[in-house]
Formats: sequence, C-alpha cells, structure tokens
Amino acid sequence: KTVTLSSEALTKDGYAHYMLKEIHEQPIAVANTIADRLFNDAIADDFIGADAREILSQTKQIHIVACGTSYHAGMVARYWLEAITQIPTQVEIASEYRYRKPVIPANTLFLTISQSGETADSLAALRFAKKAGYLATFAVCNVANSTLDRESDECILTHAGPEIGVASTKALTTQLAVMALLTLKLAELRDVDIKVRKNLAKQLRTLPGIINQSLLLNNQIKVFAEQIVQRDHALFLGRGVHYPIALEGALKLKEISYIHAEGYPAGELKHGPLALVDDKMPVIAVCPNDELLEKLESNIEEVRARGGELYVFVDHKSQHGLKDRVPYLIEMEASGSFTSPIVFNVPLQLLSYHVAVLRGTDVDQPRNLAKSVTVE
Ligand code: G6P
Repeated sequence: KTVTLSSEALTKDGYAHYMLKEIHEQPIAVANTIADRLFNDAIADDFIGADAREILSQTKQIHIVACGTSYHAGMVARYWLEAITQIPTQVEIASEYRYRKPVIPANTLFLTISQSGETADSLAALRFAKKAGYLATFAVCNVANSTLDRESDECILTHAGPEIGVASTKALTTQLAVMALLTLKLAELRDVDIKVRKNLAKQLRTLPGIINQSLLLNNQIKVFAEQIVQRDHALFLGRGVHYPIALEGALKLKEISYIHAEGYPAGELKHGPLALVDDKMPVIAVCPNDELLEKLESNIEEVRARGGELYVFVDHKSQHGLKDRVPYLIEMEASGSFTSPIVFNVPLQLLSYHVAVLRGTDVDQPRNLAKSVTVE
C-alpha cells in the first residue's frame, strides 16, 4: 500500500508545523554550525575570514546590534564575552541604535546578528556603523549572500538551514553556538587559562546531545501548556545569563499564542511585577544550578507566598528544596554553566508551541507578524 503525502507534509517532514520541525532540528543544526570550526579545544582560524585574527586581536570593545530574537542572542553573548574574555560589550536594539548618537571608543568591533540578513533596522545600523569609525563590522547570519552578508566586512554563517516558522527557534540556537565559538576564539587570543577553554569547548561539543534530551521532555511540557492555555497573562523569570532566556520565552509565547507575556530579571520582581501576581498569574522560572540559585529560590518563594502559579525548569542539581514546594516542575539534564542558557531555551520553545496549538492559532504564520521585517 502506498501512502500519499501532500507536498506540504513532505517539506514539514511529517511534523504538524514548521516550527515543531525546526525545534527538533536544533541538535543537528548546532552540530553543523560547530563542525569544521571547533577542533578539540581550538577554534579554526578561518572560521571567520582572512583578516579576522588580526581584527580580533585588536578588539577592545564590542557593540552588538540586532532585532527580536536575534537581540536576545546578543544579550546572552554579552554575559559570555565579558565573563570569559573581559572585553566590554554592549548590546542594543537596532531601531534604537540607528537613531541615537553612540560613542564609539577606539578599537570597537561592531557586530550584527540576524537570521535573515535583511532586517531593515539592522541593515541601517550596519550602514551607519561603516561610516562611524569602528575597527570592523562583523555579522552573524543564517543566509549566505544576504545583504548583511555582502555588506559586512566579515560574516560568520550559522548553518541552521532554512527557517520557515515566523517564530525563530533553531536560528537563535545556532546564533548562540556561533557566539560561543567567537567567545572561545577571543579567549584563545587573550590566553585565557587553557583549563577554562577546554571545559567550555567540551560543553559546546556535548550540546547537541543535551538538546536532544531536552526535546524528550515534550510530554511533561504539554502538561504545563494545558494549564497555561487558560490564562491571559504570563510572567517569565530568570537571572544572569538566563534573564535573556526569560525574555525570549515571553516573546515566543506572545508571538504565537497571543497571550500577554513579560520576561523579567527575577531580582526586579519587587519593583513592579509582584503586584500582578495572584492565583491567575502563571509564573515560569528558569532555574539552573548556578551561583544565583539561592537568590532565584527566594524570588520563587515571593511568588508562592502570593499565590502565583509556579512552573519551574530546573537542572538535576538545582531541584533540591524546590521539588516539594512547586506544583509544576521539570527536571532537565545539567549541561554546564556556559551552554546552559541554550539548553533551557528549548523547553520554553516547546511550551509556547503547545500553548499555541491548544489555542488554535496559526503557529507558523502568526497574525500581524512577518518572518523578515524589510521595511521600517
Ligand atoms: C522578525 C521575526 C523574528 C526575528 C526578527 C529579527 O520579527 O519574526 O523571529 O527574530 O524579525 O529578524 P532577523 O532576521 O534580523 O534575525
């Protein structure tokens, strides 16, 4: 018996939506992005371009500019760059950056991050930067030969493959893989302790496998989604390098399920959002076992004391003490502090996906949004 599939089903590889397919492509997309670039503990010199080594050796500051989800990639990267390489790094939304008068200290590297390479505000920022006296303009982009690729001095391609779903998933994950490689390259050029670099490289190599394990949490995440779908608002909390992941979790939920969602650094709860917390407010917290764990646990307690509905993602070392107090808790595989934000982002993608499916929205093509915003 032959089974006839529509051509659309074929391109979705049997998945119900492109977004779901793209979420599941993340392990291979990361593997493709780091292949031929990460060798044992060294980063290939030609992973950027002919002059890159010289430029990176001279770099004293970095300005990262991007929009949407790509901006969140920049925010995560700033934590890595400053903590590991000690290079002062700023991150800014392109539509803000392009209309102000930024001060550019000597030897500053400009870096745009974009899936499409065609986002109008990011291109305008690049064109401004090219005349503004930067050391060089670099881009991280998923589309070879895009305008951003052609107009930047150097472009590092993410090998995510085509991303069709409007809500970005595998593009972000591969942008982060590239930014991790760039951080490692800068660490190498600055002679950061080899033991530290070896550990980071190892985390990066094991990343595809750990993302795979996060994908296996799908059924548990569906249980969360069945609760959250009944709500009109949601709050996402994280701290440190996981704060941008909270922002991204909220962005994903609002993009595809149309639920009002906000991402907050958990330490800011008392400065406003705590007033919103009652038994109808789902609060989703990203809670890895890092040096901020205790702080985050006390933020979670603040929410609990006010009757907030808690949904907490932990890694297996950080669940101590939370397990008895939090009704909805998912335990993930621990990945190491460097790649942890990439890993924690995956269940949040699945959460938004399932909420949107339950709401019956157009997951791949949400209302009012475009995959690539080529006009202002
Ligand atoms: C749109 C897309 C987002 C994307 C953003 C930036 O808003 O819907 O998914 O993150 O543009 O796009 P870029 O192609 O520059 O990464």
